[in-house]
Amino acid sequence: MGITEKMYRDILKLNVDVVTMGNHTWGKKEIFSFIDEKKIIRPANYPSNNPGKGYTIIEKKGKKIAVINLIGRVTMGILSENPFLKAKEIVQKIKSEVDMIIIDFHAEATAEKIALGYYLDGDVTIVFGTHTHVQTADEKILENGLRLYYRYWNDRSEEVSYWDGYRSFIQTI
Ligand SMILES: [Fe+2]
Repeated sequence: MGITEKMYRDILKLNVDVVTMGNHTWGKKEIFSFIDEKKIIRPANYPSNNPGKGYTIIEKKGKKIAVINLIGRVTMGILSENPFLKAKEIVQKIKSEVDMIIIDFHAEATAEKIALGYYLDGDVTIVFGTHTHVQTADEKILENGLRLYYRYWNDRSEEVSYWDGYRSFIQTI
């Protein structure tokens, strides 16, 4: 589990804009040699003195896009800060300088992902819920426009689904 530098470089070669992590962030110790690069983020609600950063801002088609990574607390077994408060804190900090905000919420409980979506509706553009080991078919647009995808496969299909969702959204901007 975890990511090697070769895996990271191979993913970037596929024109991936941002690599987000999750509960296996520290699974390979070599991550410490590239965790500070702009295109890789780890959950923002990990303890603040952990290496790396919890969000990054990229430019795509002239738009500034923030990507925030969070980890859930329900049945995850990971010691973390409150993802709701951390998300709100980051959103308040960067909202005025970006055109859209995308969140990868790496969490087990779909209820926690849905709750985060409602909590951030109006502040955030998309919440992708990763990690969950069930098939996705659950996208919805909330009252204030937030796009919520709260279940994604946790194998190769997850990468395809996640990428397709992101790519189809980017094509609309
Ligand atoms: Fe996971």
